[in-house]
Amino acid sequence: MRLSVIGCGYLGAVHAAAMASIGHEVVGIDVDERKIASLAAGEAPFFEPGLSEILSEGIASGRLSFSTDFAAAAGAAVHFVGVGTPQVKGGYAADLTYVNAAVDALLPHLSEGDIVAGKSTVPVGTAASLAPRVSATGATLVWNPEFLREGFAVQDTVDPDRLVAGVPAGDEGERATQVLREVYHPSIAKGTPFIVTDYATAELVKVSANAFLATKISFINAMAEIAEVAGADVTMLADAIGHDARIGRRFLGAGIGFGGGCLPKDIRAFSARAEELGRGESVAFLREVDEINMRRRERAVQLVQDGLGGELFGKKVTVLGAAFKPYSDDIRDSPGLDVAVRLHGLGASVTLTDPEAIENARRQHPHLTYVADRDEALTGADAVILVTEWDEYRRELSPEHAASLTAGRVVVDGRNAFDPAAWRAAGWTYYGMGRP
Ligand code: UDX
Repeated sequence: MRLSVIGCGYLGAVHAAAMASIGHEVVGIDVDERKIASLAAGEAPFFEPGLSEILSEGIASGRLSFSTDFAAAAGAAVHFVGVGTPQVKGGYAADLTYVNAAVDALLPHLSEGDIVAGKSTVPVGTAASLAPRVSATGATLVWNPEFLREGFAVQDTVDPDRLVAGVPAGDEGERATQVLREVYHPSIAKGTPFIVTDYATAELVKVSANAFLATKISFINAMAEIAEVAGADVTMLADAIGHDARIGRRFLGAGIGFGGGCLPKDIRAFSARAEELGRGESVAFLREVDEINMRRRERAVQLVQDGLGGELFGKKVTVLGAAFKPYSDDIRDSPGLDVAVRLHGLGASVTLTDPEAIENARRQHPHLTYVADRDEALTGADAVILVTEWDEYRRELSPEHAASLTAGRVVVDGRNAFDPAAWRAAGWTYYGMGRP
């Protein structure tokens, strides 16, 4: 099928390349000329495992192209809209500027019977408000939320755990459903659940899934806060409750909390939208989820300070990680980077290292010191804090080797990813998050 993908960021670029990889003819469109030039040359403009490979393959096969011209969308049967919906400046709501702009720019190039499939995460009610503009061209709007995780985006797009489509009622909706079934045929044939709903449900599936995940992380971080005063170990607690199949161990990793381009802004936008709908109280707990999450960053800073005898000023602190999670170079709302900035603000001399995210971090915080080489970054440190659990740190850094480089022996494990016994045995004072 011929497809267009509007917006070539973390979501759209992967979607375009993944759709080409399953046999479709795809054009990716974005207003950012540099991004399009890079994608057209087969180079991923950000770090995402497997993306460069499917980009090059798609371009070589002739099925994948990129353009800054919306006219290139003409002739496609389905137009995916995957532009960003960031948090508005000075508020909690989602900024729909890019969604509106993308749909408006697309309208002149739509034909009778085309499908416009919204993939961006939007406040419930957005699709219903956009639908008349799309229908006026003879096309049909559907909402087809995306659940990909950064770092696993290619795999999650080619082989998702479910597909959700919010469609209009009646024949129009049925026809649109058939077209989406064709697009996603390889996944559906493998048994991926394909759930067809109305617009509002589809929009809510996405935000409620992210709200649930954020709540799960903040739940375990709240237990970490209790464990800290009770002398318990939150990681053992998580293992134990995780054996209950109703609870499950995934997303019970206590530490410095969640970040990234989705969870933080999505729970805030959800709260703002619920307020608008007169049901703010229904998701009032999300404020608490957010606050617990932010408190963990303070706690991590406090642990570094405690480890250094209460004084950060003039102390050399090495921060392992900058990305909001491993296998990504994304630093949007990165808790680790925030911890680094706070330590710097309190007078510490902070050195950051990260296998992929240094350039992005440097652009946002040019005043911090960045060192690409892990061992060089560790050399002479008074304290070390792990904020992103890359294998380079979690698996490949032995406490003995680290101790041979640093000046001090204080380690704060912001992701509970190290073995406390091994670090202590190597002479370190080990601080975990919610561990004795
Ligand atoms: C998330 C959702 O998982 C995905 O379905 C949605 O489409 C987009 O948002 P992503 O932002 O890529 O994906 O990251 P995710 O793997 O969910 O991690 C989010 C944050 O939570 C990271 O900062 C991670 O470090 C943190 N996290 C995750 C924890 O602190 N503890 C955990 O147990 C799991």
